[in-house]
Amino acid sequence: MPKRFFVTTPMYYVNDRPHIGHTYTTILVDVLARHHRMLGEAVYFLTGTDEHGQKIEKTALEQGVKPQQLVDEVAPNFESLWKQMGLTQDYFVRTTFQKHKDMVQRRFRELSARGDIYKAVYEGLYSVSDEAFVTETQVKELQAQGLGHTLTTLKEESYFFRLSAYENWLLQLYDRYPEFVRPEFRLNEVKQFVAPNGERGHLQDLSISRTSITWGIAVPGDEAHVVYVWFDALLSYMSGCKEGYWPPAVQVVGKDILRFHAIYWPAFLMAMFREDGDDLNGELPDRVRQQLPKTILAHGWWLMGDTKISKSLGNIVRPKELLHFGVDAARFFLIRDMQIGHDRSFTFEGFMERLNADLANGLGNLASRSISMLHKYRSSVVPAPAVWDEADGEIRDLIGKTAPEYLAKMEQNNFSGALECLWGMLRGLDGYIVKSEPWNLAKDESKAAKLDTVLAQLYRALRMTALLAAPVIPQMCQLLWESLGLSGKVEKQRFSDLNIEEPAPCPVKDAKPLFARIDKDSAIAEIETLQQPDAPQPPKLDVPELRETTDYDTFCKTDLRIGKILEAQRVPKSDKLIKMKVDIGLETRTIVGGIGKAYEPEQLIGRSVVVVANLAPRKLMGIESHGMLLCASDNASKPYLITPADDAMPGFIVK
Ligand code: MSP
Repeated sequence: MPKRFFVTTPMYYVNDRPHIGHTYTTILVDVLARHHRMLGEAVYFLTGTDEHGQKIEKTALEQGVKPQQLVDEVAPNFESLWKQMGLTQDYFVRTTFQKHKDMVQRRFRELSARGDIYKAVYEGLYSVSDEAFVTETQVKELQAQGLGHTLTTLKEESYFFRLSAYENWLLQLYDRYPEFVRPEFRLNEVKQFVAPNGERGHLQDLSISRTSITWGIAVPGDEAHVVYVWFDALLSYMSGCKEGYWPPAVQVVGKDILRFHAIYWPAFLMAMFREDGDDLNGELPDRVRQQLPKTILAHGWWLMGDTKISKSLGNIVRPKELLHFGVDAARFFLIRDMQIGHDRSFTFEGFMERLNADLANGLGNLASRSISMLHKYRSSVVPAPAVWDEADGEIRDLIGKTAPEYLAKMEQNNFSGALECLWGMLRGLDGYIVKSEPWNLAKDESKAAKLDTVLAQLYRALRMTALLAAPVIPQMCQLLWESLGLSGKVEKQRFSDLNIEEPAPCPVKDAKPLFARIDKDSAIAEIETLQQPDAPQPPKLDVPELRETTDYDTFCKTDLRIGKILEAQRVPKSDKLIKMKVDIGLETRTIVGGIGKAYEPEQLIGRSVVVVANLAPRKLMGIESHGMLLCASDNASKPYLITPADDAMPGFIVK
């Protein structure tokens, strides 16, 4: 059984459209996922959206829509962007999925039953923007970060999580398993925060319910409360996990949400996985550690000048600007230029300079020169190296040490360092060409063996680069792979199969251009055009013609009823059909609907629908369907289920 690698992005708030920050985090996770697949591991890559909470409730109210309607509209912004960028997520979880809500309530009940959650009255400062109660010290820290936080004082009955009881285990976690938070300086920040002798004193219990909002998961048995949005959102890593993949190997988060992930999250998990009789003041059992994420990897922020890029500050770099030069270009830049853990200023100038230097010149130029020399001097056939002078030996050593160094740096989460090392090798090869002057070697028959060596080494280095860099720039590496005459998908290769000296199996092909040099002035003008706010586009509809007139009696023959979906599951081997159990007041029916491309089963459970109740039963993929759900669409769009008002009960007739 291959090693399992479960990797996650944070669950994005849906009240914002994706920007460079979200794109960076998700690309980073995609790089990790692809890299670990090529290490031969069984990878599960989870991303998704965090959809409850006050901000959504407020925006929905302002827009005059229901929160569910709002999140259904905006959550796809994230999912479709990741798909459009060719990211390789295995699952997209939404905190509004029924199975997630059920799990949160189940865990809440369990923790209450064992005394880790209790009810009390809380009075204190509350940060609206963070949706969290805050202490005076935290307020000062937040203000120091210059993030306009709105504070109010709240007094309310609340459920508390007994966080204070886990302080000892948390401190042991950080000391005994320092890989729990990476990079190291971020671990030190977390330690300082939890340290009992720090300025904050001991950890306080954490309020994990709210009565001030309704858009959330109800506290089981006490409907006046909804579950605190962070308890809800963090648990989506569990509800979205695939069986057999727990615990997460790496969870990538921005530094702003590190504390939630490095303090609350492991404490929640410790509470869930501890056994009765475990001593919270004693040693953290290995058994419990094994259920916690191995590493929380915290990255810094992309800044514009000195300030964080954020919607509220209006200094946003949107994906369409970033993707203007291609997905791989954005991936390369973000991974190469950000040193994990630190902040980094973004400029379009710097972006273009990096791409020109490393992709157009560095890799692109080296590949096209090397391949064209192979065509010209060796009729496309890659020669075996024949002689080794000092310069050849140096390059052989450079190529040989680059692969293990690159892989080691990736393993240490030093992604920019890994790319720096690989591109250092490419620069070494440029120097090798200049020094050995293959165009002169080609003119002298007696230098044929030396030319063979130069060409063979260029080929070997490029083949290795295509393999190693594939997780970062997958499309370019595939093109390079094919240009080198290699078959199949480079992403299906394994790093362990790398054999630098292996002879080329086939002649090289035409060099496909990898990346065209950017002309900065015209590119800046293009980007400025992209930055203009989008003019609202009238929706393009493909509305069918009106049908022929019918009389009232014919219409009335159709028995339309309000129904409620109780269960929903996909019909095996069909991406369109969903089998549902629908309560229509008088009875519960099995209905098979062709809505599987538009809805996940989780989104359907609990939904009210309109059922055509007197249709003759019909078999669909062997399952008898007793009715049909009313949907609306034009000729092109997905089917939208017709949603009756909340007060319409199952069994009501539609007339
Ligand atoms: N919903 C919470 C996460 C819950 S996880 C159980 C949340 N969402 S978020 O949409 O606001 O942010 C998601 C991620 O984007 C965070 O990791 C955050 O650090 C990252 N970024 C947002 N702006 C950023 C930059 N300007 N630069 C880099 N990443 C930043 O927090």
